[in-house]
Amino acid sequence: TNPEKIKLGNSEGVKGTRVRVFGRVHRERRQKENMFITLRDGYGQMQVILQGQLAKTYDALTLTRETSMEILGELKEVPAGAHAPNGRELHADFYKIHPGWRAAGGDDAITNRVSKDTEHATLLDLRHLVIRGETASKILIIRDAVEFAFNQVFKELRMRKVSPPALVQTQVEGGSTLFKFQYYNEEAFLTQSSQLYLETCLPSLGDVYCIEKSFRAEKSLTRRHLAEYTHIEGELDYITFNDLLDHLEHVICRVLEISMADPTIKQYILDLNPEFQTPERPFKRMKYTDAIDWLNEHSIPNEDGEPHKFGDDIAEAAERRMTDIINRPIFLTHFPAEIKAFYMQKDPEDTRVTESVDCLMPGVGEIIGGSMRMYDYDELMAAYAKEGISPADYYWYTDQRKYGTSPHGGYGFGFERFLAWLCKQHTVRDTCLYPRYFGRCKP
Ligand code: 4AD
Ligand code: MG
Repeated sequence: TNPEKIKLGNSEGVKGTRVRVFGRVHRERRQKENMFITLRDGYGQMQVILQGQLAKTYDALTLTRETSMEILGELKEVPAGAHAPNGRELHADFYKIHPGWRAAGGDDAITNRVSKDTEHATLLDLRHLVIRGETASKILIIRDAVEFAFNQVFKELRMRKVSPPALVQTQVEGGSTLFKFQYYNEEAFLTQSSQLYLETCLPSLGDVYCIEKSFRAEKSLTRRHLAEYTHIEGELDYITFNDLLDHLEHVICRVLEISMADPTIKQYILDLNPEFQTPERPFKRMKYTDAIDWLNEHSIPNEDGEPHKFGDDIAEAAERRMTDIINRPIFLTHFPAEIKAFYMQKDPEDTRVTESVDCLMPGVGEIIGGSMRMYDYDELMAAYAKEGISPADYYWYTDQRKYGTSPHGGYGFGFERFLAWLCKQHTVRDTCLYPRYFGRCKP
């Protein structure tokens, strides 16, 4: 009978001990009569031993990394003290390199092109090869699991997933970062956020969310700005600002709980971020005005090199320093209306500020932006005028206030920023499959 074909990695649940595997040669080394191959297939790694004659064939003697192999053999526990992924190794009795499966060796070997010393720009051009590496593939596997966890949490909360359009004719977060393009005979933009569309779903679907791409024509190179990023957005009906903050705290902690419950994912997260701990609830909540005082007490200046004053944007560097010093998640709330988006609800107790929140994480800074939404028709009309946007283009958003309005709010997670925090990556670029940012649109 044919042995069971299995994926590499965790081999629990495999019935027999004789198995058939496929994978690429990740590493190989010779020791006396034997050849040890670390085989990789995207599910994990397996140590394979070729003994005796099997280690002396032409194929074995000329084996190059990244070559695909089919191998049959006996799975055995490794002796105590010996090292092998999952504590098992495969003693091969047959293997085959099918025609065309051999990877280029020599100067063309990917290991010669992609190493720790390779220039940053070259690594980005060779992203399609870099993702075969251990760090990049762990991040992408974590990314898959965490996105799944978000979906699961939203389902637990009975939120419904929708898929708003990416090609739009309205801005959400200011005109300066819009990607404009010719849409047949009209001007259109790549969406900056699906928020306005999510708001239109509340009356028919209840609480909603989406996981879509957002686009920002950011013209600077920073470690946390992309031109295309994955935006996890939620919108909740009939809530207060405090409900919104509690909800965000729950979503973050529950997503982490679900992700860490998978032993492989937990291991990968700890490999990348050994000190990682699920944050304690409740998160620190800090008003913008208190942050301004905090920054001044710690002599962290504003963008002009002067003490911070009410109305200043807190720049990326200052925000990150504050978050790193406090070293725990912060809900920074109640930003002044002038520095925030037009749609944000004012705080009834102090109308200079809005019911807005940024969630800040150590190492990254802002990973979420959210707020209560202006739900009064007249207030919204005044906000359009102040922002200089034409109400005509926003008729569908305005109608939301006309045909039965409600107190509601929502938020957007920058998924790559969340992952950069979780996986302790210096830049969000390393959490993307193929990052898009100022000056890069390949591979
Ligand atoms: O703070 P932002 O601009 O808020 C919004 O777009 C809201 N309309 C979302 C909502 O309420 N539904 O963006 C939300 C988050 C930021 O906190 C950040 O994490 C991420 O999106 N983000 C970016 N991530 C990578 N590259 C960029 N250029 C980003 N711009 C925003
Ligand atoms: Mg923001």
